[in-house]
Amino acid sequence: MATSRAGLQKSTRMADPCALVIFGAKGDLTKRKLVPALINLARQQLLPEGFAVIGFGRGDMTAESFRKRLRDEMEEYTGGNLEAELWQWMEKRIHWVSGSFDEKEAYTALRTVLVHVDEKHGTGGNAIFYLATAPSYFAPVVEGLHGANLIAQDNGWRRVVVEKPFGRDLDSARALNERLRCFLDEKQIYRIDHYLGKETVQNILVFRFANGMFEPIWNRRYVDHVQITVVETLGVEKRGGYYETSGALRDMVPNHIFQLISLVAMEPPISFDADAVRDEQSKVIRAIRPMSPTEVLSRTVRGQYGAGVAGGVTLPDYRAEERVSSNSTTETYVAMKLEIDNWRWKDVPFYLRVGKALPKRRTEIVVKFRRPPLSLFRETEVDTLNRNLLVLGIQPDEGIQLSFGAKVPGATMRIGTVNMSFTYSEHFEVAPATGYERLLYEAMLGDQTLFQRADMVEAGWRVVSPVLEQWQAEPPHSFPNYAAGSWGPKQADELLAQDGQYWHEPDK
Ligand code: BG6
Repeated sequence: MATSRAGLQKSTRMADPCALVIFGAKGDLTKRKLVPALINLARQQLLPEGFAVIGFGRGDMTAESFRKRLRDEMEEYTGGNLEAELWQWMEKRIHWVSGSFDEKEAYTALRTVLVHVDEKHGTGGNAIFYLATAPSYFAPVVEGLHGANLIAQDNGWRRVVVEKPFGRDLDSARALNERLRCFLDEKQIYRIDHYLGKETVQNILVFRFANGMFEPIWNRRYVDHVQITVVETLGVEKRGGYYETSGALRDMVPNHIFQLISLVAMEPPISFDADAVRDEQSKVIRAIRPMSPTEVLSRTVRGQYGAGVAGGVTLPDYRAEERVSSNSTTETYVAMKLEIDNWRWKDVPFYLRVGKALPKRRTEIVVKFRRPPLSLFRETEVDTLNRNLLVLGIQPDEGIQLSFGAKVPGATMRIGTVNMSFTYSEHFEVAPATGYERLLYEAMLGDQTLFQRADMVEAGWRVVSPVLEQWQAEPPHSFPNYAAGSWGPKQADELLAQDGQYWHEPDK
């Protein structure tokens, strides 16, 4: 297995031959992310000739009807710009197995198809099993694969990609890890978090560790606090059923947000090998201090949207959305203050906010620096100045912005805030991407750097579970408490105001 390859170097090496088996292949993820990502990889000539896709799902689909369905979906996805030759290359590699996830015979049928695709395309006996199913099927599918002897690596490698959510609290995540490890080695498990597929998220490591000038100030001595904002204009759309069992906290925090925090706050790894990077990420997530019940009350804010207009779209009350209970207490917004108990970050708050139905779609990390130790410009308007800010824009405007004070030209000493900014799209040619390209490609190469290890997932839930427990013990009384299109509940502003701070307004 090629786990020692430097995970963060952009490689032009072709992926290893393999079959990609998608469980739940008729679902949204296949058409919205996985197949478009495969097409982008094929376009960049990163997929080998020895490649095949096998859809696995219920119903009376055939390989032929699956191909047709995907072709129609991809035509739509690419706005009619799907290159005919590219699709022909892909199409002949697409296969299908019908069956339900708990049906023994279906796995036997899969084994036969895997042998067939190996003979036909030369997949080298290698296979990735991608679990794009409801979480309750993660373990049953792995057991089914084991039962049909599809996991043993006697003849080619076998890897399993597990989608989120990975558990719904610490106990269930632990139980799932234990169950998977009955059949799989940790090196075969690829827990996916699509935030790690984003270029700008990967760029956090490059920014910090490929430049000499930022790391010396990246600590409690110079950083006042860090803000992480992940907000979207969309409401819950058609995902009410799932969202009711999840809520904003489970949906975004232990996975996406903790990945961002870990990359921003980790110590420099000793190399960019998968385990060296993940050891440091895991350490910093373990250092986030879990809150006591009283702290949950004073350091977390939850909200639920009411009717309004967000991003130009009129949304109803969350409680009136499809498949949402009319007295739902599910949160669609979370803000909280976290602390990292280690030498680098002691007493540097990490504020985060996540929400649906807000005025903008924006993911950004803001590092706010301390004031200079001595105020030489007391007689000037320096006090009205903002402090130095570094904004890492993750999406949709991908780039980095640094704000600092500069003298306003003129006879008097006045200081104004100016920005230096770098925008990704102005400097690099950015190929269309779903964010899954890199992750699929790395899984095919056997590099786990961008995938979560069991201990990272459990460390995340260790922080989130006490919040969930306290929230459950004290259901909210005032939902909905923010209007769609507003910046969320006012308590989120108060959370920062009590520390003399305020949220950075995206794009300012
Ligand atoms: C998903 C969540 O994991 O991430 C969604 O389930 C959320 O609720 C989405 O909308 C956000 O992803 P992105 O890439 O649009 O920021």
